[in-house]
Amino acid sequence: MSEAANDTIRVVVCVNMMRGPRGKCCELSGSPEIADALEKGVRERSLAVRIERIVCLGKCNDGPNLRFVGGEFRQNLSMDDVPTLLDEFEERAGKNDAGAMLYPGA
Ligand code: FES
Repeated sequence: MSEAANDTIRVVVCVNMMRGPRGKCCELSGSPEIADALEKGVRERSLAVRIERIVCLGKCNDGPNLRFVGGEFRQNLSMDDVPTLLDEFEERAGKNDAGAMLYPGA
């Protein structure tokens, strides 16, 4: 487990539906379904991860894309990547403490 275990991490998922210069966008490549599946997995595993949807990460030709806020990207995602991403989220952030709010401030 990472040093940051049990710290809430933020992940942004691009759900932009405006095609970029080469005619691609993450929404057309299935990013909303990936975001849905990640949100569901985070809830089910009670992970200390906040998924946020964003409009364009500037890498439209390589989508669907997500980014760890302030960190690295994951690109060319598919639904097949969701279990691995959830495992990575769990490794990086851990689970919420029992009784803790999933979305602080909500
Ligand atoms: S459309 Fe997703 S990065 Fe631009």
